[in-house]
Order: sequence, then C-alpha cells, then structure tokens
Amino acid sequence: MYTEKVMEYFRNPRNMGEITDADGVGTVGNPICGDMMTVYIKVKDNRLENVTFKTFGCGAAIATSSMITELAKGKTIEEALEITKSEVVEGLGGLPPVKIHCSVLAVDGLSEAIYDYYKRRNMPIPEELVKRHERTRREFENIEKRYAEFTKLEKELLQG
Ligand code: FES
Repeated sequence: MYTEKVMEYFRNPRNMGEITDADGVGTVGNPICGDMMTVYIKVKDNRLENVTFKTFGCGAAIATSSMITELAKGKTIEEALEITKSEVVEGLGGLPPVKIHCSVLAVDGLSEAIYDYYKRRNMPIPEELVKRHERTRREFENIEKRYAEFTKLEKELLQG
C-alpha cells in the first residue's frame, strides 16, 4: 500500500517537534478524517531557517509532514508558499489515492505558519494566503465542533 519511502519517513520522521521560539506557528485539521497537525517556522532574512512539525494523525500524515519540512527548509517565504501537495506526494514516491488528502494537511500547515509569521510582524499578507487561511480556519472550526459533539456523546454514553 505504501512506498518504501513513505514507510521510512513514517518510521524515522524528519524535523519532528516544536520550536519554542518560533517566528510562526500554524495548526490545521483535516476535514475528512479529523487529524491535526502543527507546523513551526524559524525565519532569517526572509528564508525558512528551520521548519518542524507535530502531527496527531495517520502514517501518511506523519510522512507528508516530515517531507514538507525538508522541502521548505532553506526556501524563501515566497518559494515555500509555492510548494504543492503533488510535490509532497512525489517526494515520497507516491501515496495511495485514499491517502492523498493527508498531503493537504502538510501544505496547509505550512501556509498557516507563514500566515502567522506575516501577522505577528504586521506585514501585508498576500491575498491568496488570506484566502487559504480563511478556508483552513473554517475547516478547523468544523473539526472543533465535531470533536465537541463527539466528547459530549461520549460523556453521555459513559454516564449510561
Ligand atoms: Fe487523517 Fe491521513 S487519515 S491525515
């Protein structure tokens, strides 16, 4: 089902963890499965000096998160925003069709971290990035709503 490269990135994730003094942080949720991911960036002279992630998700989400940190590191902010889910998938030698949505999480997480970076510095935010941000926020809010409903139902079930 998975390529050897996906399995390798899943077993040995690159750049996993948090940057405590990050310049930008982006948290996103996958509307299809509810998995979540946070991307941290450190920026120097408009370049992504460091990119890390934390993912609560499937093996493909971990592998794609890991891959995007490698693709983005060393790129300028503008170049990093150009990274597509196809590049992430190709970098891993492919993903099964049912797992393609997992690669969107990685791309959106990076976009959100860059959005946060612009915002913290009161820099003008490119229109396309604002649109992406609004879409990912809506998706994230839906997941939070679903999660709240789920925990409420779980509580009711436990109380009998
Ligand atoms: Fe949720 Fe892969 S199944 S991100």
